[in-house]
Amino acid sequence: MNTDFLKACQGEKTSRTPIWIMRQAGRYLPDYHKVRSKMTFLELCKTPEKAAEVTLQPVDILGVDAAILFSDILVVLEAMGMKLEFQEKKGPVLPEPITCRADVDRLQVPDAEDELGYVMATIRILRQELADKVPLIGFCGAPFTLATYMIEGGSSKAFFNTKKMMYSAPELYKAMMDKVTDFTINYLKAQAAAGAQALQIFDSWAGALAPIDFGEFALPYVKRIIAALKDSTVPLIYFANNGATLLEQSRTSGADVLGMDWRISLADAARIVGPDISLQGNLDPCALLLPEDKLEKRVAAILAEGKEARGHIFNLGHGILPETPPEKAKFVVECVHRLSS
Ligand code: CP3
Repeated sequence: MNTDFLKACQGEKTSRTPIWIMRQAGRYLPDYHKVRSKMTFLELCKTPEKAAEVTLQPVDILGVDAAILFSDILVVLEAMGMKLEFQEKKGPVLPEPITCRADVDRLQVPDAEDELGYVMATIRILRQELADKVPLIGFCGAPFTLATYMIEGGSSKAFFNTKKMMYSAPELYKAMMDKVTDFTINYLKAQAAAGAQALQIFDSWAGALAPIDFGEFALPYVKRIIAALKDSTVPLIYFANNGATLLEQSRTSGADVLGMDWRISLADAARIVGPDISLQGNLDPCALLLPEDKLEKRVAAILAEGKEARGHIFNLGHGILPETPPEKAKFVVECVHRLSS
């Protein structure tokens, strides 16, 4: 098996810099559309054979050093009893958002194997099919990022209702976060038991928070998740999108790896996080639209900066955009391998 990704997570030497791409299984790939055209997104998530098939597509097409489970951070909310829809042009919609104590009380904290058994079934299929290839990454949403969907009822720009609950009903907010955190711990343990070899916590909207609020309303729950999984030997990656200003705090999360968006140089990030944490990132997803010569220079610069960190896993600074030509993603993978070996 190609273990470069797992080694880089732990800060061990690798023959070349490993790379995977956030949202690597998805809409920029014609092969994904072929499978997806026959069912809805949620049906695809809940059909283990098909979810496994699209997970493997970027491994075969791009040659990345890790696979990431095909699923979504929001299936957790459905498992906790919330209604969840993915609307064709709108994205995720939760038609009954959390507004009061009764809503929080109604949230369930079930056993993940019972409610999300289809995820663990997908992981088991993937470990069989990946056996001699690359490691499998499992994932979840960070509690704060999940909270934004629970309270706003879908995607948001200003997160007004979320902050309103944080500031005007902190006990309610914290009771909700405790339930989400407890279930997430159970869920990640189940993913690791089923065969996930690394786990990434996606905090997509952490960058919307002032440092003081991040420290009170977001990071403590991430720390609790990571502490609960420390015995599992599975490396943990924490990705706080738009989180450069939160790095002094994120470095205390307990994660083995911190994911970086493109708004900070990896050299600066390495100086802040110190010698005990690996870094992942951080090419601007839009840079994949550059002509190849310019793109290669950007890749080389990030590889050079990544040397400052304990370990470096190349990635984009956020998810790959649906508009990206797959050949460009393949070119980046080839560049990273060629320039780093
Ligand atoms: O990375 C991978 O290849 C694995 C699959 C994966 C998906 N979602 C599939 C998906 C992962 C890791 C996610 C995580 C996720 N989901 C996040 C965190 C990462 C990030 O981008 O910040 C968030 C915020 C979500 C919530 C979500 N799911 C949104 C906002 C949307 C709609 C907009 C969008 O980006 O597509 C989704 C839908 C979704 N999740 C799709 C896919 C492939 C598109 C569904 C389709 O086929 O129509």
